[in-house]
Amino acid sequence: MAKVYAITNQKGGVGKTTTTVNLAASLAATKRKILLIDLDPQGNATMGCGINKAELAHSVYDVLVAGRSIADTVVAAPDCGFMVLPANQDLTAAEVELLNEIGREFRLREALAPILGDYDYILIDCPPSLNMLTINALAGATGVIIPMQCEYYALEGLSALITTINRVKQLINPKLEIEGILRTMFDGRNSLTNQVTDELRRHFGEKLYSTVIPRNVRLAEAPSHGLPILFYDKQSKGSLAYLALAGEMLRRAGKTTEVSSDLSANEQLGHSHG
Ligand SMILES: Nc1ncnc2c1ncn2[C@@H]1O[C@H](COP(=O)(O)OP(=O)(O)OP(=O)(O)O)[C@@H](O)[C@H]1O
Ligand SMILES: [Mg+2]
Repeated sequence: MAKVYAITNQKGGVGKTTTTVNLAASLAATKRKILLIDLDPQGNATMGCGINKAELAHSVYDVLVAGRSIADTVVAAPDCGFMVLPANQDLTAAEVELLNEIGREFRLREALAPILGDYDYILIDCPPSLNMLTINALAGATGVIIPMQCEYYALEGLSALITTINRVKQLINPKLEIEGILRTMFDGRNSLTNQVTDELRRHFGEKLYSTVIPRNVRLAEAPSHGLPILFYDKQSKGSLAYLALAGEMLRRAGKTTEVSSDLSANEQLGHSHG
């Protein structure tokens, strides 16, 4: 059965999409079967996987609103080794169209049920808002991955997110857990970064990934080529960091990975920053 992770933070530009795309590629590189779900009308994850959001025959909109099956809607990320349920701006209308529907929180969960056996990991890229799309992701997920920048206001925003996660857990999805907190665009030379890290460790303990994602210009360039970093610049720090994150996730899940010597070196890189 697939583990379903919502990658979410209502703060914009914290690295949700970058994390979803690159984690999908890194997990796929360990021979896991991966589905990436783009649940953001911006369609950034779709484009970042080399799929043109302007030319979609069908999208996650059809799944949520018209009950189309995920199996009939997914497309392959070209040469990336994983599948994508794509999105574009059509999805903006979904919220309004679902407004008067009974069970609107469960549209994604219902659509996921028949395909959970087809994948090892399903990663959902959420929009920068705690709206009905995000609630659909949280209702259908088993875990939440929270990417965040180590800034002063980051912790403040986090409490609203944690409250929402707890409400969803109480009311509609008792299985929901925080899977991990990921520090993105990390700069260890900044003293504030270390203070925020200390606080995160106090609050979240083991849930704070020891892998950090450094600020790396190659990560910012890759989407314009429609490629995960692994296929754009495999040796870049960003690429190594996302491979290390995949390794850390798999270790947490207690699974044996086919760890290449490459990958273990990368994990050390992650630890040296963490
Ligand atoms: N580690 C990094 N180093 C350098 N640039 C990064 C890194 N991570 C993300 N970026 C860049 O920062 C910007 C925001 O990242 P991203 O789109 O992943 O954030 P997001 O949380 O998905 O944003 P939104 O809330 O709009 O969906 C993008 O231009 C991305 O390329
Ligand atoms: Mg995004």
